[in-house]
Amino acid sequence: MKIAFFSSKAYDRQFFQQANHPHQREMVFFDAQLNLDTAILAEDCPVICLFVNDQAPAPVLEKLAAQGTKLIALRSAGYNNVDLKTAADLGLKVVHVPSYSPHAVAEHTVGLILALNRKLYRAYNRVRDDNFSLEGLLGFDLHGTTVGVIGTGKIGLAFAQIMNGFGCHLLGYDAFPNDKFTAIGQALYVSLNELLAHSDIISLHCPLLPETHYLINTNTIAQMKPGVMLINTSRGHLIDTQAVIQGIKSHKIGFLGIDVYEEEEELFFTDHSDTIIQDDTFQLLQSFPNVMITAHQGFFTHNALQTIAATTLANIAEFEQNKPLTYQVICPH
Ligand code: NAI
Repeated sequence: MKIAFFSSKAYDRQFFQQANHPHQREMVFFDAQLNLDTAILAEDCPVICLFVNDQAPAPVLEKLAAQGTKLIALRSAGYNNVDLKTAADLGLKVVHVPSYSPHAVAEHTVGLILALNRKLYRAYNRVRDDNFSLEGLLGFDLHGTTVGVIGTGKIGLAFAQIMNGFGCHLLGYDAFPNDKFTAIGQALYVSLNELLAHSDIISLHCPLLPETHYLINTNTIAQMKPGVMLINTSRGHLIDTQAVIQGIKSHKIGFLGIDVYEEEEELFFTDHSDTIIQDDTFQLLQSFPNVMITAHQGFFTHNALQTIAATTLANIAEFEQNKPLTYQVICPH
């Protein structure tokens, strides 16, 4: 079955071509993001392969189904970009890669914390400029701080394990608590309110769902400790960016590290260095000295890309062979 890849980059081609070598499936790679205008590219493809910023709302799915698409293979863990109800109504199956390397994202999260705390980005540029002053680089010991983990699934657990190694106190909040979290050091589950009130660092690892949309908002920020470090490597819409900007301006939020941004579809994964960015909110965020933004690279390790390609092709093979779909995403409603 021919597979159309949307939003594909050179590294997608490299890893998928390697993984496909024994199978010799026909694959076509498009740079374009999936939307109503670009859906036509998949005209003769029963399988389409999407990434996080491809958009598959009802009108796009209707067009795809009418063109003969049967399977949407997400090469991501998250599936908030696909209208699952419409997909089910149209008989379109959806599969994803639930776990490729929780360590990749967890380690990147820790990277953001270390870089923000010790101002590594400023230090690096300073030393390159032969400026060896330490003014403005003062950090704090991570050892002994309290880290709040919101969402203690695969990535949240991997992150908690690393922070336990630093000697941090761990507080967790999850809609579905699990024993693996409380097995880490002295980790404790608490209510969301308690986590917000007692954490020096808060890191988001829950999925984007209607109930987690804008989980970080004016009210939740008001409950946080002054100077808190807020990290989001999960999904941009977990954070109300305007509320966070107010939190930074009022010094309530002392540090912000984000690998995801609510309007990232317009920006991330593309070189805009020669253009004038029109997103004033993003530009304002960039202007703060205590904000560090990376462009959705948490997943981006060799290990993760190999697993993503292998699992996606295995998902497609199951579909071709009419087998039960191990990693099917079922509409919850
Ligand atoms: P997971 O499914 O293993 O864990 C998610 C956890 O969130 C579960 O324990 C679940 O019970 C919990 N949860 C669900 N609803 C909740 C709620 N209302 N409040 C609090 N917790 C809730 O998922 P995994 O693999 O740990 O991934 C987490 C998120 O990380 C994904 O949803 C995705 O958005 C993001 N991600 C980001 C990547 C990046 O490159 N930056 C790459 C991969 C995933």
